[in-house]
Amino acid sequence: MEETRNTCILLAAGKGQRLGGPVPKQYQLLSGKPLMAWSLTAFVKSPAISDIVLVIPEGDGDYVRESILTKIPGVAEKVRALVPGGAERYLSVGNGLSSITWPCDYVFVHDGARPMIQEETIERLLADAKTYGSAIAGVRSKDTVRITDEDGCGISTPDRRNVWIVQTPQVFRKDLLDRAYEKLREEPERAKSITDDGMVVETFAGVSVHMCEASYDNLKVTTPDDLAAAQVLLSHRH
Ligand code: CTP
Ligand code: MG
Repeated sequence: MEETRNTCILLAAGKGQRLGGPVPKQYQLLSGKPLMAWSLTAFVKSPAISDIVLVIPEGDGDYVRESILTKIPGVAEKVRALVPGGAERYLSVGNGLSSITWPCDYVFVHDGARPMIQEETIERLLADAKTYGSAIAGVRSKDTVRITDEDGCGISTPDRRNVWIVQTPQVFRKDLLDRAYEKLREEPERAKSITDDGMVVETFAGVSVHMCEASYDNLKVTTPDDLAAAQVLLSHRH
């Protein structure tokens, strides 16, 4: 397959309100390492990724450099920028995207709160993105999903085979993601309910994105039970 230059925007600028605790969740320890260090290490090691942009809370640069980056071998060669996040996730992605001034064909966007990401998924996403222009990680829902109104009354039950739980990484041709974010900046009021970049591209570039089947263990640490689950999964992995 043709060699391309691919940048990963790694998001770690949230507040971690649902997890709680004394420090934002990206800095909380998971099996002895800060949560964001797990995914950062995976992308630093990945041959598919040439450059990394780290999006972190405004003012945390020194802390992140000293307590996280210095402990990961290979970081200096790949992490090209540390940029401050915004109030919403899509604003953090937008800041990361604007900071890319080097050659870049494909952009990976990944939640720093998904520590279990594996090389195999990264490679498959890139291969799919080269075919379809975009590829977003997800798994088929194991549960029946029910759509209701505000009162919990049933509206529909979609066919489970076509229901996906969406994850990251999400990979896009750089020009496609740029186009979508340019439009979003022009019409920010349309971005209100947006929770991922697949939605950004579909809403603002009008292009349908491709689902790439990933793995159930690529969980996002959102609440305290997720931290416990990630700990168990990691202990089985090593
Ligand atoms: N994120 C970000 N900038 C934001 C919001 C979120 O960079 N303004 C990042 C988070 O750091 C996280 C990822 O996006 O890695 C997924 O978001 P989420 O799990 O919602 O994390 P938080 O927003 O930090 O958590 P919460 O919603 O519970 O406050
Ligand atoms: Mg959030």
